[in-house]
Amino acid sequence: MNNLSEIGTGAKDRIVGLYSQARQLAIGRDYAQALELYDRIAAEVPQLVSKTHRINYERALCLKALGRTDEAEKAIRSCLDINPNDTESLRLLREVRSSKQQRPQTYVPGIIGKRQLGIRAVVIDMAMEAVLQCSTSGQFNALEVGCMFKGNEGLSTYRIADFVSRCNGIKQFVSIDYEPEHISACKNMLCEIDARLLSEVQFVCGYSLAKLAPILEKMGMVDFVVLDGGAEPACCLGEFELAASRLADNGLVVVDDLQDMKPTPAYPYPRPFGKATLILPCLVTAEYLKISNLKTGKRESYGPAIKDFDSEFVAHSSHCKLLGSLGELRYTIVSEGNHKLLVVGRSGVLGSFHERLAVSPISSRVAVIPSCTTQWVQDRSYL
Ligand SMILES: C[S@@+](CC[C@H](N)C(=O)[O-])C[C@H]1O[C@@H](n2cnc3c(N)ncnc32)[C@H](O)[C@@H]1O
Repeated sequence: MNNLSEIGTGAKDRIVGLYSQARQLAIGRDYAQALELYDRIAAEVPQLVSKTHRINYERALCLKALGRTDEAEKAIRSCLDINPNDTESLRLLREVRSSKQQRPQTYVPGIIGKRQLGIRAVVIDMAMEAVLQCSTSGQFNALEVGCMFKGNEGLSTYRIADFVSRCNGIKQFVSIDYEPEHISACKNMLCEIDARLLSEVQFVCGYSLAKLAPILEKMGMVDFVVLDGGAEPACCLGEFELAASRLADNGLVVVDDLQDMKPTPAYPYPRPFGKATLILPCLVTAEYLKISNLKTGKRESYGPAIKDFDSEFVAHSSHCKLLGSLGELRYTIVSEGNHKLLVVGRSGVLGSFHERLAVSPISSRVAVIPSCTTQWVQDRSYL
């Protein structure tokens, strides 16, 4: 902002303030709001924009992220008018052109920037940040079941690819989907948003339960998992079991859509917790078994009433290896209106997720229900 000498001091301070706000918004990926501020600066001080390469470049980045590629190209040309050999601008121009060539016919440009940041996107972002903050390995392995294929769904593939692209160190992101057309649509959407992100995703076409085990085996441990495939409860539980068995100490699993699902032709039965209809009972039982053994190591300490009545379910569950291994995991349900997501991981990383969610743009819109031990660990009134 060196070209402000032609305007008065008051106006200069305001423009500098607007510019710094615009940059912050762009860094926070609120491209639509950032663009509004860059445009206000352009309307108020047109001579500044015609002389300042940086503003044009940042406007172009926002326009590109919003899918407004023609306008992005025009903004880059203004950069190049000011500084024809600028390598950043030349590279951005190449990227915008290549994303224009690959633009799908079915996708509505600009849909991403205009949407309010949804709960799914923020939960995914906050969870990934928590994992990275707690990670000691310096690597970030991510996995999702169910890629994005419509602009009005969750954009999970984009969020993860974008995050992975900004990670240093060893990183990997595998996205599994059994519909080849959905994978193509997802690739098209990624091209539309940011073509560079395509190289961050390894797409695997196939049925989740067949593909997960070999992929996880190859990965070793997985840091971040989003389960957002089908809604057949046993399939979702199978995916969860596989992911949980390879979850890194500071890893998190996010399961989307816990809301009650109506019977459909594909699954004409009740699903009171949506995709977690069987996952939640498992976690609740594992947590009960963990708590009941925590202090004394035996349930008898709770009094004769329990001794007299031995639940067959509890007795069997206490021999279940899966429930034993899930005992280390805590969980949280985040909900906005009817939309609910489950976040599962060990207490440290889950605590970091809670802290981030509390200061996120959706903090005032969501309800957070931690599992009982998560709550106790946070309160430090237990353990
Ligand atoms: C709800 S959509 C995913 C939405 C996406 N995560 C987003 O944020 O936009 C579910 C996807 O999972 C895929 N799918 C459903 N069941 C699956 C399974 N068992 N294995 C692999 N893919 C599955 C579907 O083809 C569909 O593309």
